Amino acid sequence: MMALLELHQVTKAYDELKVVDGFDLKVHRGELRCLLGPNGAGKTTTIDLITGRQKLSGGQVSLDGTVISDWPEHMRVRAGLARKFQIPAVFKGLTVRQNLEAAFTRHLSPIRNMFVFRDRETQDRIDEVASLVNLKDRLRVRADELSHGETQWLEIGMVLTQNARILLMDEPTAGMTTQETHKTGEIFNGLKGTHTLLVVEHDMSFVRQIADRVTVMHMGRFLAEGTIQDIERNEEVQRVYLGQGGAGHHA
Ligand SMILES: Nc1ncnc2c1ncn2[C@@H]1O[C@H](COP(=O)(O)OP(=O)(O)OP(=O)(O)O)[C@@H](O)[C@H]1O
Ligand SMILES: [Mg+2]
Repeated sequence: MMALLELHQVTKAYDELKVVDGFDLKVHRGELRCLLGPNGAGKTTTIDLITGRQKLSGGQVSLDGTVISDWPEHMRVRAGLARKFQIPAVFKGLTVRQNLEAAFTRHLSPIRNMFVFRDRETQDRIDEVASLVNLKDRLRVRADELSHGETQWLEIGMVLTQNARILLMDEPTAGMTTQETHKTGEIFNGLKGTHTLLVVEHDMSFVRQIADRVTVMHMGRFLAEGTIQDIERNEEVQRVYLGQGGAGHHA
């Protein structure tokens, strides 16, 4: 089976320093992949190289068999790469429903846009997304009244309305309470199979809750891949990351 997202020998160098160094990764359709590694391992840089926020120094990124690594960022978004940013881009003065509507119509033509709010299909899709992200009962609430966790879920919902082919999430649970983190795990588990996700995370209990396969990077390189059990038993991973309280020990 062809991978939906494939990184081949992806490299990012600053002068002599390779912060991502010949990194390979394959993520298949419907998979939820976790990307782990100590601080400075190159995880965020890897996400930036996938989205086009940063330029590759070498290697290739393919989406569904098409090499996209020389495409500008906005074209990659159009091709179905979606990233959830740390700081949610929600409209504070609008309700949850209005935010989802805005996200939904952002990629439609202006003509289509004029009619879309009355469109039953659109409203159904918004309700569906709202339940996926645990905001079904909060649709009429203004975004500035949401908790930190709910705001993050709203942004995940806004990404979902775009029907992206793969969702890239860099530390989605940062700043969340334990309860919100657990709920986020349930949300992600509900997306498996129908959505493809690549999630960078340090919180190991969260990773245990959601992970199918886990890839570990260290100093820009591939270190290990497998089930969460494989990874937790892997001696090298324990030495560089899990062992020294690495996973919890976060900037
Ligand atoms: N503009 C830059 N110039 C030089 N080095 C950089 C630059 N940007 C990032 N780096 C280095 O690249 C390395 C990888 O950083 P990156 O942010 O990708 O790590 P990370 O795995 O996301 O870490 P964390 O878990 O702390 O978020 C780090 O050593 C960082 O200092
Ligand atoms: Mg990072």
